[in-house]
Amino acid sequence: MADPRGSRAATYEAAPNIALVKYWGMRDPALGLPMNSSLSVTLDRLKTRTSVRFDPALPEDRFVLNGIEPSGGPLDAVVRFLDRVRALSGRTERADVVSSNNFQTASGLASSASGFAALAGAATTAAGLRLSPRALSSLARLGSGSASRSVFGGFVEWRAGRKPDGSDCYAVPLFGPRHWPALVDVVALVAGAPEKQVRSAEAMQSTVRTSPEYAGRQASLPARLRAIRDAIRRREGPRLFDLIMEECDDFRTVCETTVPTLDYLTPVSRRILDAVRALNEEAGTTLAGYTHDAGAHVHIFTLERSASRVRRRLEDVVGVSRVLTLHAGEGGRLVAGGGRAA
Ligand code: PMV
Repeated sequence: MADPRGSRAATYEAAPNIALVKYWGMRDPALGLPMNSSLSVTLDRLKTRTSVRFDPALPEDRFVLNGIEPSGGPLDAVVRFLDRVRALSGRTERADVVSSNNFQTASGLASSASGFAALAGAATTAAGLRLSPRALSSLARLGSGSASRSVFGGFVEWRAGRKPDGSDCYAVPLFGPRHWPALVDVVALVAGAPEKQVRSAEAMQSTVRTSPEYAGRQASLPARLRAIRDAIRRREGPRLFDLIMEECDDFRTVCETTVPTLDYLTPVSRRILDAVRALNEEAGTTLAGYTHDAGAHVHIFTLERSASRVRRRLEDVVGVSRVLTLHAGEGGRLVAGGGRAA
């Protein structure tokens, strides 16, 4: 039967992003409002594709990720997110959610960012809502902060805002995916990267409460974010690479000085950071800059002309299982659904 409120099924695809300025700490956990603005690159090639179907015959929500039905935390997070979409749309049916990643989940390749951006796009469309990209990004934030940025392609800033109600907190696309084609993200995947022990949302609040370095980091971030935005705008490779390493080192310092300490790297990750430092030293200029999130894999930004040199160097690091070459990619997109008929 045709549904007057629009389609009941939709499929949406979104890509992970890597933060060059990290989001780490919330000023309002209930609304998912961050302490600081952050800036990321949405990546090409890696994708999460999610289909959502609201069905009155379903007794409860069902979630399949990469062919497996997770229970506990991941399922609860999806159900909570669907509850928000039901509240917004007035729908009451349970949903069937089928999601797949074409990359490894939960180990620093930011599957929560692409995952919640894809879920937000698919669930709202299936529920008959037509949200603007900005509104979609604000909703995705409630699943995972970094998901707010994956709604957009290219270089994206998530503005922290100041208002208690969060109305000035949203992501904006700064430069499109084709702004800087020579910029390459060489990702060094670490063999046996451990699964995250503590969810980022909890870990970051523990940093806010306990790290003696956190206040200093917050004070330095606005100027660093402006400098990084400017280096991207002017396409200044070495300047950008220096700045993102400084930011990554600062992020790692607040994690390591958290009580109890947060250590996302393995000895292999640390060897990768050393290899990048050594490469720059030998070259006498900053050829490449590393960054990592709350995981063991490392993203190394460089320019196309140095990419094969950087790749070779990383492939020589013992314990690196694979090296991917990525670029800035497109934002989220609707793959199916959104028509009027159910
Ligand atoms: O989106 P969350 O809640 O998983 O937190 C992401 C935190 C970092 O990946 C470390 C930084 C960022 O801005 O993506």
